[in-house]
Amino acid sequence: MRSEPFEAARPIAVIGATGAVGTELLTILADRGIDSQRVTAYASARSMGSLLHMGSSRVRVHEIESFRPAPDQLVFLAVDSTAARHLAAVAVGAGARVIDLSAAHREDPHVPLVVPQINGQLLDDDPRLVASPNCCAAILVTALAPLVRLTESTGSRITEIRVSTYQSVSGAGRAGIEELLASTRAALAATEFQPTVFPVSCAFNVFPHESTLDPETGRNGEEDKLLRETQKLLGRPIPMETTCVRVPVLRVHAEAVSVELSHPLELAQIEAAFRTDPSIRFRSTAEPPFAATDAAGQDHVLVSRIRPSSLRTRGRLDGPASPSVTSDAWQLWVLGDQLRKGAALNAVEIALAAGWLC
Ligand SMILES: NC(=O)c1ccc[n+]([C@@H]2O[C@H](COP(=O)([O-])OP(=O)(O)OC[C@H]3O[C@@H](n4cnc5c(N)ncnc54)[C@H](OP(=O)(O)O)[C@@H]3O)[C@@H](O)[C@H]2O)c1
Repeated sequence: MRSEPFEAARPIAVIGATGAVGTELLTILADRGIDSQRVTAYASARSMGSLLHMGSSRVRVHEIESFRPAPDQLVFLAVDSTAARHLAAVAVGAGARVIDLSAAHREDPHVPLVVPQINGQLLDDDPRLVASPNCCAAILVTALAPLVRLTESTGSRITEIRVSTYQSVSGAGRAGIEELLASTRAALAATEFQPTVFPVSCAFNVFPHESTLDPETGRNGEEDKLLRETQKLLGRPIPMETTCVRVPVLRVHAEAVSVELSHPLELAQIEAAFRTDPSIRFRSTAEPPFAATDAAGQDHVLVSRIRPSSLRTRGRLDGPASPSVTSDAWQLWVLGDQLRKGAALNAVEIALAAGWLC
C-alpha cells in the first residue's frame, strides 16, 4: 500500500543542500511548486547560515547537528555514504520517509532501489527508506525502459548489455566542477596544476573513472556500481560489461550502449517505442545525434543513433538502416543530465510516485 499523500504543509529536509545534487534538488522542488517555507536545508558546519536559491526564494542553510527529524517528514539525503548511513538510521527511527541519493543503501537487499520508470511498483510496499541509484545506472535504465517493455510484450528479452560511459566532472560533486575550471585555466595559462579530486588534471584529458580499481576483476568501483545497480533495477542478473570514463565536461553523462536480445526486433518497432516514451527525447539516425549540451539542465534522457549491430544484422547494411531492418543486437547513444535524472530529479520522481510529495 502506498502512503496517503502528505498534507501540503508536511516538512521536507534537504541534507547536503549546498552540494551539486542538493542545489539541483532545491531547484526542482521549486519548479514543482513546493513552497520554500516547507523546506529546511542542511549541510556541514562550514556552510551554516549561507543562503541558497530555491526558485525565486532563498533558504538558509542549517548545520547538520541541528537536524531533528519529525515523524512523516520527507528527508532527501544528498551527502556522502558515511553521513547518509547515519542520518538515514536517525530519520527512519524518528518515523520520517527517506530518499537516499548516496551509495550507502543501494545494494542492501532490504532497501528498494528505484527508478520509477522501470520499477516504481516497489513503492507499493510503502517503504520508509528508498535508495536512488548511481547516476549512470539511472540514465541507462530510463533509456532501456521502452526496450524492456517492447521485449516483454513481444516475447523477447534483453540478454546482454555493454555500456561505455563518458562522465562529466560534476559526478564528483561541486569540487569536481571547481577542479575542471581551475585545471583548464592553468592549462591555458601554461602553469602547473596539482589535482586533488581526480588522479590527473582533467583539462583537455580523458581517463578511466577515478574510483578504486579491484585488482581481481580489473573493474573500478563505478563500473561495479553500474553493473550491480542496473541488474538490481532490472530485477535479474543480466550479463553486462561496463567501462566508465571521465571526460572534461561540466555536467551530463553520455553512454554508448549495446544490447543483445533473445529474438530479433524491427527498427520501426524500436523507434516507435522510444518516440512514445514520455521520459525520453528521441532522434532517429536520419536526424543529427544529440550532444551533451542538448541534455544539460533537461529532465529527459536523450536517445539517438539507434542502429543495428553491423556484426549481427539480418539484411543489408550498406546504406542507411531501413525501418524494416531486423536485428537481435542494437546500439544506442544515450545522454542524461546526471544531476537531474541521474540524481535530484529521480529522487523527486520517487517522492511523487510514492505519494510523499504533493
Ligand atoms: N554528483 C552527481 O552527479 C551524483 C549523482 C548521483 C548521486 N550522487 C550522490 O549524491 C551525494 C551528494 O553528491 P554531490 O555531488 O552533491 O556532492 P558535493 O557537491 O560534494 O556535496 C556534498 C554535500 O554534503 C554536505 N556535507 C558534507 N559532509 C556532511 C555531513 N557530515 N553532514 C551533512 N552534510 C554534509 C556538503 O556540505 P558543505 O557544502 O557544507 O561541505 C554538501 O552540501 C553523494 O552521495 C553522491 O554519491 C551524486
